[in-house]
Amino acid sequence: MTTLVTGGAGYIGSHTVRQLVNAGRDVVVFDSLELGHREALLGAELVVGNIANQDLIASVCKKYGITEVIHFAAYKSVGESMSNPGRYFSNNVTGSMLLVEALTHAGVDKIVFSSSASVYGTPAEVPVREDAPLHPESVYAETKYMTERMLHWFSETHGMRSVSLRYFNAAGDSFDSLIGEDWSVTTNLVPVVMKATLGKRDALEVFGNDYPTRDGTGIRDYIHVVDLADAHVKALDYLAEGKPTIACNVGTGTGTTVLEVIQATERISGRKVPYVMSPRRAGDPVEVYADPAFAAQTLGWKAQFSLDDIISTAWQWHSTHIDGYTK
Ligand code: UD1
Repeated sequence: MTTLVTGGAGYIGSHTVRQLVNAGRDVVVFDSLELGHREALLGAELVVGNIANQDLIASVCKKYGITEVIHFAAYKSVGESMSNPGRYFSNNVTGSMLLVEALTHAGVDKIVFSSSASVYGTPAEVPVREDAPLHPESVYAETKYMTERMLHWFSETHGMRSVSLRYFNAAGDSFDSLIGEDWSVTTNLVPVVMKATLGKRDALEVFGNDYPTRDGTGIRDYIHVVDLADAHVKALDYLAEGKPTIACNVGTGTGTTVLEVIQATERISGRKVPYVMSPRRAGDPVEVYADPAFAAQTLGWKAQFSLDDIISTAWQWHSTHIDGYTK
């Protein structure tokens, strides 16, 4: 029994690979290394390639006896998806389709998919449950939604069972700082706060302080990447028990404001976070956090780590890896 992890050299992928390897599982990573890092694998087996290469996927499945897959490989910049939609539909949707088709031909019948809470768009109510209406508000979110739907149909037609994990705001890094997020390719809040605090960029812009929230700034559900990795392991176990296709939130159930992230960073790092108030960012919902009950009930998964764990691991990682994996 071997698990293939596409995009396993990326941020969430590499933390998941590490957990699988530590649990004694056989793992093969499949990554183009366009955005991923070989060093993030800590020696795990790697095949370099593109998920759209069906012949290569077929030969990898045969060579390693692949029985299950975790599919992370995708582009994830919301802004870029709006300026270059073709790139996102091509890689995230067509690429996923070619991968899943090749997997079905190879006899693989279990897949865990890296989806996103952005499939809900601006939720009508919080906490967000899985049965909330889905209305993606970006090309990126649409590609996640389309892939979820495609997986639904491969499940119906070919018995390819899947768990789509709808991540809320992934953040934090490994507790021993051996692996972490590449801040050169992300615009997400926590790495941007770290970069500003370490003087590696201009002051953080806080996008909007006039929202109807406790301090006027936007509320999100920040989930530690190690918790997220654990959800993937639990999702594989769920599928191994023969259970049906589902889509599941992966969040903590707690909302945190932008200013609370800044305050936690100042307390933990002992430094001032340079920031300025800016206008709201177009398309940003006011408040998004998960109802994590379905994940607890179906996967037996619950977040273990706090905002302080996220900020302290992020601070530790970024302050010791100013140039990412190169130093
Ligand atoms: C974004 C994506 C979402 C994706 C998720 C994870 C958008 C609209 N949504 O979520 O689809 O699934 O990342 O990759 O891009 N903030 C600042 N200043 C900054 C950066 C962020 O104030 O420089 C604020 C935002 O306004 C928001 C919060 O911090 O309130 C989190 O932002 P971000 O990390 O970009 O994540 P989301 O926008 O929630």
